[in-house]
Amino acid sequence: MDRILIRGGNVLCGNIHISGAKNAALPLMIAALLTDEPLTLTNMPRLADVSLLRKILRNQGADTTLAGKKAGSNPFAGDTVRIHAREITDTTAPYELVSRMRASFWVLGPLLARCHEARVSLPGGCAIGTRPVDFYLKALEAMGAEIGMDAGYVVARAPGGLKGGRIVFPKVSVGATHVALMAATLARGETVIENAAREPEVTDVAECLVKMGAQIGGIGTSTLTIQGVERLHGAEHPVLADRIETGTYAMAAAMTGGDVLLTGARADTLDAFIAVMDEAGVSISMEEGGMRVRRAAEAIRPVSVETRPYPGFPTDLQAQIMALMTRAAGTSTIRETIFENRFMHVQELARLGADITLNGDTALVHGVEGLTGAPVMATDLRASVSLVIAALVANGETELNRVYHLDRGFETLEKKLAAVGADIERVSG
Ligand code: UD1
Repeated sequence: MDRILIRGGNVLCGNIHISGAKNAALPLMIAALLTDEPLTLTNMPRLADVSLLRKILRNQGADTTLAGKKAGSNPFAGDTVRIHAREITDTTAPYELVSRMRASFWVLGPLLARCHEARVSLPGGCAIGTRPVDFYLKALEAMGAEIGMDAGYVVARAPGGLKGGRIVFPKVSVGATHVALMAATLARGETVIENAAREPEVTDVAECLVKMGAQIGGIGTSTLTIQGVERLHGAEHPVLADRIETGTYAMAAAMTGGDVLLTGARADTLDAFIAVMDEAGVSISMEEGGMRVRRAAEAIRPVSVETRPYPGFPTDLQAQIMALMTRAAGTSTIRETIFENRFMHVQELARLGADITLNGDTALVHGVEGLTGAPVMATDLRASVSLVIAALVANGETELNRVYHLDRGFETLEKKLAAVGADIERVSG
């Protein structure tokens, strides 16, 4: 199993290119199942989750191809992936594949909408809470689906096809919004989704669906109105820049007192995060070519943060802000309101010398003078990158184990960080 070794103390300076967003790329790939024509996605990140999803889609009968790189092109420029689901040959998404990535459960929506039946294993993914699927099932039932459970599989049928319905989500769910939205594009009549997720990745998928011929009103708001159409067609779509990768590298730079330009970043998807950085004494400005991050204040100032659905502070940046605050001059309060078990990084950060007190859904992070390198274990995708941020300023060497979590969501992280001055390397085996 690969490990990452980091020797702390270097200041990060230079450019980091931001990849396409994992959380947009995955549902965009799944949307290709809605049409018998090819969907071409550009600016695709090179991630383990993308490769796994290509495998899952191939299992459904889709052809997927990866365009070759042109000589001399930017090594960090995204891939082009073409997915052609001319015919769906299998409406089952098996346990062996779905259990490895939660988002693959989302094939349920397009399969049901297009083939009127689907059998999809209950999902796996990061262990950051119970993560039920009740919202998905209720939404599909509101569109006329009959849903049953069979040996760990969701079995859904819509004889005669899905029909429009009214869906009111009790709580904002990104995945359930994706699934309901995709399913509604091919349902007969009008579907209204209330309390829909407004995450930029949902907007990106909706914009791609519109290019494919879907009729969607209210994009970017919490009420989506969809008029179902007979069929969707092929399209080409660039994947939105990854706001979580952007925020992560911004905090890595801030942690080291550095100065980096995050090329290709979209500051307009990070308002809540930028406000918190401002409070912390980190300056963020848009410049030609990208987003510039510099530590403006001598010391990192403590902050008070509560995770919220978009446009609030993202839960996917909670572990990283906690890492940054371990070195703040004072005590920060970090409250997690989206997932109940998303503090697994706390004990690992403590191994590096962080002083964090947990009280239910709230962490009190008491800034310390210094951190010390140690062997640590990645527990989930975002938690693992928080350990990298801390290790960048820890005295001595940190050995990060179980880096397959990182590879699921961060493209060539060690190369990107090494290119701006970090002392970081991957050790295979
Ligand atoms: C997506 C993101 C993940 C991010 C999360 C919240 C992808 C691939 N993953 O995950 O990175 O952390 O949004 O921004 O885009 N819930 C239910 N019942 C359901 C569905 C969800 O109770 O049927 C709850 C969850 O347990 C959680 C909350 O709703 O407490 C939000 O989860 P959700 O937005 O659905 O997360 P994901 O779509 O899985």
